[in-house]
Amino acid sequence: EELSFIMIKPDGVQRGLISDIIARFERKGYKLVGIKVLVPTQALAAKHYAEHDGKPFFPKLVNFLSSGPVVAMVWEGKSVVKYGRTMIGATNPLASPPGTIRGDYGIDTGRNIIHGSDSVESAQREIALWFKAEELADYTPSTAAWVYE
Ligand code: GTP
Ligand code: MG
Repeated sequence: EELSFIMIKPDGVQRGLISDIIARFERKGYKLVGIKVLVPTQALAAKHYAEHDGKPFFPKLVNFLSSGPVVAMVWEGKSVVKYGRTMIGATNPLASPPGTIRGDYGIDTGRNIIHGSDSVESAQREIALWFKAEELADYTPSTAAWVYE
């Protein structure tokens, strides 16, 4: 099954949005297979956002991500990468419609609450960066037949 790396950024944690964000993915029918709270080092934040290295906002982005605790998660389910991004919304919260996480809770692009992998390949890279294999749970929820036909 498809996996996505979803991370509540320091602003989302400080603003008390952990339970709301987890509830949204859970209620959709996605399965939580990994979760941890940590303050990322600058090195880890820079590796995570390596594709943006060299851009003007990169130093700010790395500083921000390592400024406090994040909730790093792995969610599993059909099309979770693409649909997870739909649930998250646009990079700029003011361009993100109500009903999306960023649309409901954010204003500035540099305080957009949550990260989601942008492709299956990115998800594989990011999951390997943030989690060890033994930190991911392999199980079948008892509700699976009520979510998938
Ligand atoms: P992530 O899920 O965090 O990767 O966001 P994204 O995929 O919607 O956007 P992208 O990967 O292009 O950018 C990563 C993060 O860098 C964004 O979430 C923003 O916080 C920040 N960012 C992107 N573009 C800009 C920009 O033009 N200015 C500023 N200040 N920050 C930006
Ligand atoms: Mg991105």
